[in-house]
Amino acid sequence: MKRVLYPGSFDPFTNGHLDLVRRACKLFDEVIVGVAVNSGKSPMFDMEERKSLIEQSCAGMPQVRVVTISGLMSKAIKQFDAQALLRGLRVFSDYEYELQMALANRSLEPDCETIFMNPTHQNSFISSSLVKEIAGLGGDISEYVPPAVASAVYAKAGK
Ligand code: COA
Repeated sequence: MKRVLYPGSFDPFTNGHLDLVRRACKLFDEVIVGVAVNSGKSPMFDMEERKSLIEQSCAGMPQVRVVTISGLMSKAIKQFDAQALLRGLRVFSDYEYELQMALANRSLEPDCETIFMNPTHQNSFISSSLVKEIAGLGGDISEYVPPAVASAVYAKAGK
């Protein structure tokens, strides 16, 4: 079985992430979305909230499984028996950070491959921080995130 692990902080999951999951479903038998910790970020949603929002957003996609990951990604890829990590490359400036992370993961675990996919250009400017900022200032985020995520972000932002 071809299985890929798509990790991220997903705080929150956006239409850009969903776009990548849909594309990966065409290439892999199973796509595991891994809600992970980025120690540099202070999340709006806890891990279980993020997991639940992704599950709601991917309802009806039987190839998708959502998990939470608390340790190293290079260990999680083995734990979930995935052949590769999947990361999204939206714009050129993503590349340097992604390359560093892919090489670090491979240094920790020599078998750890990372593959990159691009979302459609309509989704290329979306980021989780942008969505939270727009919602916090009373803007409309319905074009950028799945409906369940929009309601949850508005509720957290008190809008
Ligand atoms: N569409 C829309 N937005 C996207 C996107 C896409 N296809 N791909 C990435 N983004 C955005 C995210 O929303 C996020 O936005 P934000 O910075 O405003 O929150 C940003 O791009 C970064 O993407 P994300 O996938 O959330 O990555 P991350 O950098 O937060 O996640 C981890 C990094 C969690 C995968 C990494 O820290 C990790 O592996 N942690 C586990 C511990 C570990 O092993 N650390 C060592 C790593 S070498």
